[in-house]
Formats: sequence, C-alpha cells, structure tokens
Amino acid sequence: MGKRRGRIALLLALFLALALSACGGEEEPRTIRVGVALYLQDDTFISTIAQHLQQMVMEEEQARGVKINLSIADGRGNQSVQNEQVDRFLDRDCDVICVNIVDRTAAAVLIDKAQAAGVPIIFFNREPVEEDLNRWERAYYVGSRADRAGRLQGELVLDAWRFSQEELDRSGDGVLQYVMLEGEPGHQDTLMRTEYSVRALVSAGVPVEKLANNSADWQRGQAKMRMQQWLDELEGPIEVVFANNDDMALGAIDACLEDGIPPEEMPFIVGVDATPPALAAMAEGTLKGTVQNDARGQAERILELCFDLASGAEPSPEKITDGHYVWLWYTAVTSENLAEFLP
Ligand code: GAL
Repeated sequence: MGKRRGRIALLLALFLALALSACGGEEEPRTIRVGVALYLQDDTFISTIAQHLQQMVMEEEQARGVKINLSIADGRGNQSVQNEQVDRFLDRDCDVICVNIVDRTAAAVLIDKAQAAGVPIIFFNREPVEEDLNRWERAYYVGSRADRAGRLQGELVLDAWRFSQEELDRSGDGVLQYVMLEGEPGHQDTLMRTEYSVRALVSAGVPVEKLANNSADWQRGQAKMRMQQWLDELEGPIEVVFANNDDMALGAIDACLEDGIPPEEMPFIVGVDATPPALAAMAEGTLKGTVQNDARGQAERILELCFDLASGAEPSPEKITDGHYVWLWYTAVTSENLAEFLP
C-alpha cells in the first residue's frame, strides 16, 4: 500500500512539473545575440568601450530579464579578418551586428551582407562614408562629432593663450609654435581634430606656426619616438603639442620626461579621449587638458539600439539623426572640472 501511494505521489509531482512548464511557469528567458567586431582590441579607447559593453550587458540581463549573448571579435587591424568575423556572426544567427570597422571606406560589403541576411548593423567610432550608410535603412552609426573635439581642444589652448600668454609663448615672439601628433591617416577623427583645433586659434586671431606634424597611428610608443625626434631636431621651443588622442599625448610626455624636461617646463600638451591614464597625467600636471570622448555613453547608445532592433522595433525618430546617426557630445576636461571625470 505504502509503495503504491509513493508511486501515485511521484506521478502527481511529474504531472505538476509538466503542467507548470507548459503554461510558462519556468519559461526560458529570451536570448539576444549580439556580435561586436572591433578594429583593434589593443586600442586603449576601443577597449574601454568594449569593457563598458560587457559590464552593461550584465546589468541589462538583470534589469530586463533577458539573456544577452555578446561575442566580441578582434579584427587586429585587418579588414579581411574582420569580414570573416562578420560572416561568422551572421552564420551564428546574431540578431544585431556592431562593427568598429577597420577601413572606413569598406562598409558597403558589410552592409550588403547584413541586408541579405536581414540583420541590422550598427557601426561605431569609425564612421563609414555617407553613401554606404545610405545603402540600407537598417544600417546605423553611433559616434561623436569629430569637428567638436578639435574645436574644444583648440579652445583649451586659446584659453591658456588668453590668460597666460607669457607662460605659453616661451620664445616671446607673439606667435604660437606647435607640433601636431596625428592619429591614423584617413580616420575622420584625425582629419577633423587636426583641422578644427588649429582653426579655433586662427579664427580667434592667434598667430600660429606649425613646426612639424606626423602620424603616430593613435599609439603612445610611436608618438614618443616622433616627439623625441622633434625635441632633438627642431630649433626653438615647441610651445604646444596637439595630439589627436590621449595615448599620443602621453607618448609626447614620455619623450619630455626621458629628455629630462621637468613638468613645469614641458610644452602645453593636450589630448582627446579622457582615458584613465590621461586623467592621472592631468592630476600630475603633465597633461594640460583633454576632451572627453564618451566611451560609456557610446556603449549605452549601442546597446539601446541593439535592444530596439533585436525586438524588431524601429528606433524612435528622436534618437536618430538623418535616418542613420546617433550622435554623442564631447566635453572639455580642464584642471577646474577634472574631479568630475576622475574615476
Ligand atoms: C578615436 C579615439 C582614438 C582611437 C580611435 C580608433 O575616436 O580618440 O583614441 O581609439 O578612435 O578608431
């Protein structure tokens, strides 16, 4: 009798479990698959965006009760490698693909592949040419206005010129002598930051003289070498170093330190990005200013767009400019507001 009761109880429990799962009592959370292709994982600013994405995915999984399958691939600076990575994401049925494209003129191929598979594609940080983005209405770009970073950087130097010209103008000739450390050739940020930083000074009537310029490909080590060479070869003092990003500004500082130049005698060095090591250099006084490139904000917008697109919804028009663009703002970081940016 006891055994029979036991069997009945077991059957009842099984029946209940089946009934519960059939009416969704233990429903599996929905899974969203997102593939992220980076141009180069080693790049300081890009790796910061990737870290924010990973962190936010964990937070969003909790908050939204969904499962997010985030795969990150490193293109190692090679467009063919990145194309294969995107193919793999499409084969694995990703719901959305995010691309930090290696060669910004090569987006058409990726957009066409994504369109053929019906998978929305979000570019970020490295802006594809407009005609390519216009090929498909489900191709987007998340990034910051490159000209604004240049303008803000120029204004940091302009303020210093206005408030302490005698400190900045070491040669005392009334002309601001500068060098330009440029990012990767052809990158929208290199072109615009280079142009608009100097333009901010010229349009305010400051006489400027370019002593030298060269690309250091966003990299600290290369920038250090360029700066070492300029310190050795250029006659007369370098008064300002414009660096298209913080890593290169830090490279210029490395060269000055190695040359035995104390912080108070270094040129006025400015960067862009507001990476943690750059903020630390500002706190030490070697870096004079930077412009925040909002890595967290970009990661947030990318994810927000992924959720909209993965659910099949059209992103609301107020979030998107000209049908394809999500723009973020840059902010100048000075010694006055530095505390707001420090981790
Ligand atoms: C820029 C950033 C650089 C570098 C580059 C890569 O926006 O300022 O540091 O990360 O993107 O595309």
